[in-house]
Amino acid sequence: MRMYDIIDKKKRGQELTEQEIQYVIEGYVKEEIPDYQVAAWLMAIFFHGLSDHELVKMTEYMAKSGDMVDLSKIQGIKVDKHSTGGVGDKTTLVIAPIVAACGGKVAKMSGRGLGFTGGTIDKLESIPGFRTAIDDKEFYDIVNRTGLAVIGQSGEIAPADKKLYALRDVTATVDSIPLIATSIMSKKLAAGSDKILLDVTVGSGAFMKSKKDAIILAQKMVAIGEGAGRETKAILTNMDVPLGIAVGNEIEVVEAIQTLQGKGPKDFQEICEVFAANMLMLAKIANEKEAHERVKEVIANGSALQKFAEMVKTQGGDPEYIYHADKFEPAKYHQDFIAPQDGWVVKMDTEICGKTAVVLGAGRETKDSAIDPKAGIYFYKKTGDKVKAGETVATLCASDKEKLKGGVEYLKNGYFFGDQQVDPMK
Ligand code: URA
Repeated sequence: MRMYDIIDKKKRGQELTEQEIQYVIEGYVKEEIPDYQVAAWLMAIFFHGLSDHELVKMTEYMAKSGDMVDLSKIQGIKVDKHSTGGVGDKTTLVIAPIVAACGGKVAKMSGRGLGFTGGTIDKLESIPGFRTAIDDKEFYDIVNRTGLAVIGQSGEIAPADKKLYALRDVTATVDSIPLIATSIMSKKLAAGSDKILLDVTVGSGAFMKSKKDAIILAQKMVAIGEGAGRETKAILTNMDVPLGIAVGNEIEVVEAIQTLQGKGPKDFQEICEVFAANMLMLAKIANEKEAHERVKEVIANGSALQKFAEMVKTQGGDPEYIYHADKFEPAKYHQDFIAPQDGWVVKMDTEICGKTAVVLGAGRETKDSAIDPKAGIYFYKKTGDKVKAGETVATLCASDKEKLKGGVEYLKNGYFFGDQQVDPMK
């Protein structure tokens, strides 16, 4: 087999065989095929796409390029949930305890913040003492005992994706829907769950800016999951505004606690309950009607919050912070962001909102920078909300005065005000 012939075949829009795909992925990981040939191949995929068969095979070989997590030591059906990324997305902190409180098993590997999107691991690590580096044996033991654990990626998950992503990043091939689908799903297949629930975000704070593209991405990821023998379901969610009110780390943990008590912001509470119910259905724990009832029940009777506190304790954190969220000290500096006119918030650039959080210190400016767990933003008013001149629409928080000033400047490009009411869902 020759890489030249495989590039040429894809360039002409022809379907590659499983052996050809295996040759490229394995050869690239072993550094037998150079970057420039793989870059040409990726560009050919960018223009011609991949058939469902190619998608499944490419994803499987990417997953198999590293460790394949074996969750068979955990009893029951394991359902994974994955979001394609967003701003204010703290859903795992709420959904995982709800599902575990209903008898489900959640063995979740999560990531850190990437670009303008936050990461579950950074949020959890803002709870004093919380450990996310846990070895496989302890991970399985905890999930068998308590029903849930959320840890950082251990071992080497899908190294082919790491190499391909780095190459895509510098060859203008990141924004290819089939390549995004293979990238995300390779990590999901390697993470070992039996079933996968996908949160495909759409809007100005998501990878997919249009609903049409989000639907195509969802269909491709479902085709990959099902083709690889894992039942997969996708739900589209709105990322044209930040999710919930809080965007940061500690302040998102506090909002997650409120949501586990049934007192979360309406949009966020609803999304968490819908996803938790769908996970229970996928895990065959409940039918549709029962699933929604059980989710409401464990929130109302306090057992979902108790599960979260139990998870925090098991992973080395202080559960008192979960029962008494006022133990989280606020950031040293705050500044309100004020509406400049009477009228409505007519648009938000959610990517700018996420980048503002990074400027404040809630995310990383460089790969190795430390994050400020207290930095973040409360978005009290969002697209479609009525405002009065001088009213506070958001509050920015930081531990560094200069960063606070920088954040306020940055957010000016994130909010748009006008005289006409708009429908936030359009
Ligand atoms: N997230 C991923 O993991 N991969 C992509 O290609 C895009 C978003």
